[in-house]
Amino acid sequence: MNRKRLALLQVLMALSVIIVITSIEFVGSVRAGSTETEIVEYTPSISPEEYERRYKEFYGDTTKQMAEEGNPGELMLEDGEELFHSVDGSKGKSCASCHGENGKDLVGAATTFPKYDPEIKGIKTVALQINMCREKRMGAKPLKYESYDQLALELYVKSLSNGMPINVSIDGPAGPFYEKGKAFYYKRQGQFNFNCAICHVKYAGYMARANLISHYRGHADHWPSYRLKWGAVGSLQRRFRGCMKNTRTKPLPYQSEEYRNLELYLTYISNGLPIQVPGFRM
Ligand code: HEC
Ligand code: HEC
Repeated sequence: MNRKRLALLQVLMALSVIIVITSIEFVGSVRAGSTETEIVEYTPSISPEEYERRYKEFYGDTTKQMAEEGNPGELMLEDGEELFHSVDGSKGKSCASCHGENGKDLVGAATTFPKYDPEIKGIKTVALQINMCREKRMGAKPLKYESYDQLALELYVKSLSNGMPINVSIDGPAGPFYEKGKAFYYKRQGQFNFNCAICHVKYAGYMARANLISHYRGHADHWPSYRLKWGAVGSLQRRFRGCMKNTRTKPLPYQSEEYRNLELYLTYISNGLPIQVPGFRM
């Protein structure tokens, strides 16, 4: 088959998957659209364990082996450790000046993030916390989200909780933000009128083009991750943006209120799973 025809075939295949899901979902959207605030929750297509089984069957140990041979995220992690111990800003401090040599006072801290912060009256992620400390405690400039140094520091802080179970609370003032995050996950948007849950809850374990769609439990335990497709390390929020672009939805800015609430929701779904950074993904 020549290249043009192959490309056309791929486009047709991609469209057909979308059309099938769109037509199945159309009925649901009419029903769900009638009351804006009410969420019609889906029953997960499969259990997280069944998803793991299908993942192994589909990809084998390829990703695991590649990660073992060398995860480029490990180099970034080392740079993050160095940054943590470097003085920056007008107050002549490093992160380690307050949080201890080798971040000893932050061991386990990342397991409780994202969390409510009374000062911003909203949800703070690890990324946001780091910038708050830089500005307020160090007199240093906030790091640009998704820049190398920002990801490196986030990676280092999270690595201090590696192997520890995620333990995010949605009690008290965090509750309403969790509900907003969940509403976002179920909100239909974009040209295809999709929501996140259709794919990652209702059709988890099914195929979308050449991809096995993942189960949402486990989405938040391995970021920042190195992704082959990016050829770089990126954050969970970069992934949010990617999925929104793929479904023809306008992506939102990093650390926007919506994405912080969404991160809280998805991290809560992963409660109990151990943090494992840097992740490695296709
Ligand atoms: C001058 C002292 C100081 C410096 C320097 C500092 N922090 Fe903090 N940090 C704090 C204080 C105080 C808190 C707790 C109150 C708050 O949330 O601001 C905190 C909270 C945190 C937390 C959350 C801990 C928890 O258990 O909730 C993290 C993570 C953190 N800092 C990371 C960093 C990083 C990374 C740097 C360097 C970029 C840094 N901090 C620099 C004082 C500091
Ligand atoms: C049309 C189906 C579809 C929709 C809708 C969709 N995604 Fe995805 N998503 C995928 C596919 C395919 C992948 C790549 C394979 C995988 O890990 O599932 C992916 C990957 C992800 C990952 C990475 C998982 C990991 O462990 O590395 C996250 C996080 C994610 N999506 C979040 C979202 C969010 C948030 C939304 C809604 C804004 C969304 N997705 C909407 C299909 C979808």
